[in-house]
Amino acid sequence: MTIRRFPEGFLWGGATAANQVEGGWKDGGKGISVSDCARHHLDVDVTNYKKHNTVTSKDIEEALKTDDESLYPKRHGSDFYHHYKEDIKLFAEMGFKVYRMSIAWSRIFPNGDDIEPNEEGLQFYDNVFDECLKYGIEPLVTMSHYEPPINLVLNYNGWYSRELVGFFEKYVTTICTRYKDKVKYWLTFNEIDSMIRHPYTTGGLIEDRFPGMNWEQVIFQAMHHQFIASALATKICHEIIPEAKVGCMLTKLTYYPYTCKPEDVLKAQQDMRATYCYSDTQVFGEYPSYLLARFKNNGIIIKKEPGDDEIMRNYPVDFVSFSYYMSSCTAASTEGLDISAGNTITAIKNPYLPSSAWGWQIDPIGLRISMVDLYDRYRKPLFIVENGLGARDEVNTDGTIDDQYRIDYFNSHFKSMLDAIEYDGVECLGYTSWGCIDIVSESTKQMSKRYGFIYVDCDDYGNGTFKRIPKKSFYWYKNVIKSNGECLFEN
Ligand code: BG6
Repeated sequence: MTIRRFPEGFLWGGATAANQVEGGWKDGGKGISVSDCARHHLDVDVTNYKKHNTVTSKDIEEALKTDDESLYPKRHGSDFYHHYKEDIKLFAEMGFKVYRMSIAWSRIFPNGDDIEPNEEGLQFYDNVFDECLKYGIEPLVTMSHYEPPINLVLNYNGWYSRELVGFFEKYVTTICTRYKDKVKYWLTFNEIDSMIRHPYTTGGLIEDRFPGMNWEQVIFQAMHHQFIASALATKICHEIIPEAKVGCMLTKLTYYPYTCKPEDVLKAQQDMRATYCYSDTQVFGEYPSYLLARFKNNGIIIKKEPGDDEIMRNYPVDFVSFSYYMSSCTAASTEGLDISAGNTITAIKNPYLPSSAWGWQIDPIGLRISMVDLYDRYRKPLFIVENGLGARDEVNTDGTIDDQYRIDYFNSHFKSMLDAIEYDGVECLGYTSWGCIDIVSESTKQMSKRYGFIYVDCDDYGNGTFKRIPKKSFYWYKNVIKSNGECLFEN
C-alpha cells in the first residue's frame, strides 16, 4: 500500500485574528478599533448577514458611550491578551509549526495617526513572538484584520481617505523594523475583497457619512487605497526583511452553476471573476480588464495619484493565501430555489451538500477545486490560512468535549487538500485552521459559533471562567501533524 503524507516541511498550524481573540481592548495603552465598536445581534438570521453588519454613525456613538463587553464581544474575545502563554503552550502541544495571528493596529498606534508608537503594544507582540519561537512555531502575521483604529473612521472616513496609506506605511515600517528577526511570513490585508461585503470592519466605512455619494464608488476608492497600501507594505517588508515572504489574502468563494444551462454557467463564471478580481490585482499588479469594465459600466471613477500604477505593478505579492469554508451554487434566476447562508454571502443551496448549523455548505472537494483554480491562475505558492467548521460544542458532565463532527470535517478537507498537492501538482506552503482556539465569530459576533481544537469557557455575553479545555479534535489534530497526514489514511 502506498503511504500518503504531506510534503516535508508542510506548515501545519492554526489561525486567529487580534480583534476576535485578544480581548484586553483598553489594556496596555491600546486604542479603540472598529471591531471594539461592533455590537452583536443574538437574533441571528444567517440568511441576512447584512443585518448584523450594517453599522451607522449612531451605532458608533452608542458604542463609544459604554465600556460594556457583553454586547460588544470583541472587547473580551478569548482573553488571549492575558492567556497567550497558556494558549501558545497548547498550540505547541498539538505540534503547530506555524501560528497565523494579526497585530492590532490600535495596540501599536492607538489612534492610527499618532506620532510615536505605543511601546507597551510593541512589547506585547515581542512577548507573543518569543513565546512562539521558544516552541519552534513560526509566526505568520496579518498586518490588518478588521482592526483600523476608530479614530481613523471618525476623523478621516476610514480607507476612503488617501491619508490612511501614509499612516499604514508608518505602521508597517514600525512593525517590520521591530519584528524583523522574528517574523518571516506576512499577509497585508485579511480578505481585502470583504470591503464589498462588510465595508465597516474592513475599510472603516460608514454609509451615512457619505450622503449623496455613489456607495460602490466609495468602496472601490477605499479599496484602491488598500491596494496601494498593500503594495507599499510588500515593498517595505522586503526592504527591511529581505528573506520575508508576503502574501495577499482572499476569501475563496467557490461557485458552481446550478445547472448546465449556459446562462447559469455564465453566471458562475461572472461570480467567480467577481471574487478573483482582487487577487488578480494583487498578484498581477494591475486592475484586470474586466474590473475596469465594471468601473466603466457603473460610472465608477477611481482617483489615483501619479505613480500609483507603478506601485501596484512593482510590488506584487510572493504567495497567495486564502480562506475556504464552503461552496455555493449560482444561477441566472433564483426563482423557486432554496437559498443558503455562507461566509458573508447568501447563495443557492446545493442539493448534494450538507450544511453547518449556520447554513454554510460543507464541501471538501470544493477545496481541491479551489486550490487547482488558484494555482493554475497565479502559479504562485498557495497557503490555506483559514478553514474550519463553526459549530455549537457541548461540555460533557465529565468535562470532555466530543467534537467528532469537526474531526470529520477536517478529515475530508485534509484528504482533498492532499489530492490537490499530490495529484494536481499544486504547491501549498501550509495550512492554518481558523479559530484554532475558540474565538468570537466575525459575522454574527457569537462566542457560541466555535471553530477551535481548544474550548474557551465563555458564553455569548462574555460570562464564564475563560478556562481552556482541549476538545477531542485537539488530540486528533496532534496526531495528524505528528504523522504529517499519514494517520488520515489509517482505518
Ligand atoms: C473569515 C474571516 O472570512 O471568516 C474571519 O477572515 C472570520 O475573521 C471567518 O472569523 C469565519 O467567519 P465567522 O463569521 O464564522 O467568524
